Order: sequence, then C-alpha cells, then structure tokens
Amino acid sequence: MSSLLLQGVAPGPETALVSVSSIDLLARKRSKHAITAITAYDYPSARLADEAGIDVILVGDSLGMVVLGLPDTLSVTMEDMLHHARAVRRGVQRSMLVVDMPYGSYHVSNAQTITNGLQLVKEVGAQTLKVEGGAEIAPRIRALVRAEIPVFGHIGLTPQAVNRMGGYRVQGRTQAAAAKLLDDAQELENAGITALVLEGIPREVAANITAHVTVPTIGIGAGPDCDGQVLVWHDLFGLSSAPAKFVRQFADVRSVMQRGVEEFRDAVKARTFPSDAESYHLPAGIDFHQHPSDAVPSCEE
Ligand code: KIV
Repeated sequence: MSSLLLQGVAPGPETALVSVSSIDLLARKRSKHAITAITAYDYPSARLADEAGIDVILVGDSLGMVVLGLPDTLSVTMEDMLHHARAVRRGVQRSMLVVDMPYGSYHVSNAQTITNGLQLVKEVGAQTLKVEGGAEIAPRIRALVRAEIPVFGHIGLTPQAVNRMGGYRVQGRTQAAAAKLLDDAQELENAGITALVLEGIPREVAANITAHVTVPTIGIGAGPDCDGQVLVWHDLFGLSSAPAKFVRQFADVRSVMQRGVEEFRDAVKARTFPSDAESYHLPAGIDFHQHPSDAVPSCEE
C-alpha cells in the first residue's frame, strides 16, 4: 500500500495512510527514484515536511547546534532527543520518522544501546534510529537490529567525532581513507542497516559506495550520485549563520522573519499595533462604569 503512495496515488477511503517503510526506501534505490529527507525538531516543521511528501524526517542531534545554540553535538542528551522527537512525532503521519541516538547513548555497551534505543522507540514512536560511525559501531547496530529496531548508519564527516577529526573536515580524500569508508559501509550493511547517510565526502567516493552497497545511501555534502539527499532544516531556509559549501538555500526565511520582527517592533513603538479592529470590545449595551466592581471608591470611604 505504501508503494501506492510513493507512486503518487492519493489515499482514498480504501487506502489507509501508511508510513514510508524500509521496503519503500529499498524500492527507491532499485528504481532510481531519489529519496528525500530533511531534519525537523518541532511540530510545525514536521507537519510541513510530512505534508510536502518528504520520505524521511530525521530528528537529528544537529538540534544541539541549530536549535539549542550549542557549539557542537557532543552535549546533546537523551532528554533533548526525547523532548524534540515527541514534538516531531505529533506532526508526522506519512514520512518515516528517524531519530538520532545522541553521543554517549550507544558508546558504552550493547545493553546501554538497546535500553536507550527502546526508549526512543517506545516513548517517542521512532521507527528507525541513526548512529554515527564505521565498522567499530557494527556490534551496536547488530544489537539494535536483534531488538527489532531498524537503524540508519552514518559515515564520513560524523559530527560526534569532531574532536577525533580535528574539526568539521571533508573525509575520505586519500585513497586509503576512501577505501576505509567503503569497508565501513560494507561492514554496516552486513550488520543490518536500513540505509546509510554519507556526509562530507568527495562525490566520487560517495558514488562508489552507492554502487557497492545494496542499502540506499542518503547524502549530505556527498554529491548528487547518492540514492537520496538530506538537508538540515535551518540550512535549507537560510537560518544558519555559516552554511557549508554543499548547502543550497531553498528559501530566505531569515530575511522574512527579520523584517517581520522589525515591523512588529516599529508598530508597537508607534502605537499602531494593535488597532481598534484588532481589539476586543464589550457587547453593545454594557456600560462597564455601571458595574459594582468597577465603582471607584470616593476619598471619604
Ligand atoms: O544530526 C543531523 O542533522 C544529521 C544530518 C546532518 C544527517 O545527522
């Protein structure tokens, strides 16, 4: 039924609205129809993305930087993810909801990974989780998959490894590094991932990985040859301060918001907002001066 939706068949009474599934994503790869993905961190943005027919909505731990104003994603907590993912869940009907496991929530043991993963599934309704890292993270992915939790992998420029990488640098630029990325991709595929996010790697490396794995690849700063593309909500709308080279700003929402705030400020200062038409009025015939509680006591009383 979901494949009907993917083919653009509007749901009628006989076709219930069902979520995009991992089977749908795989079909997309095989049929070479691009997968669309976007991050969301709250209810209104999730609704917009869902209603626009975006395939995958990711509650990324990028929320630490673009929403919470943190310098990196390392201090994002399970509580942060739970809070934002619950809001996003309420806005999603059709898209696949993917939630990032934050740094530290899957690094200690398989048991810790499953406990945190189950919490995101049971308390939020996440359909799929995402973890960053290469072959070293394969045992964690196997543990989640054994617990019936689908997982997206994420390799290349993995922001949770910012300290190891020495900054947010493009990865896989040498032959050895590119080969390591392909090995990682295949290890993660063997571990059971549903899809693989490729971030900040040369186009040629991403194309090669995409051709050599059976799972769909979703690129961000990885060129046009991936099976799909993901962008961070705030980058797409011009709400980030220093967007990377790969970002295309699809709408300048920042200027619109800025103008709106300035016009509000000016209207309040000039006392042109609110107008009489924007005010509530007493019903006709009621004179509030007559109401006993409004009577002004005289000085003698
Ligand atoms: O946290 C995030 O937003 C991500 C995307 C960049 C894929 O992981």
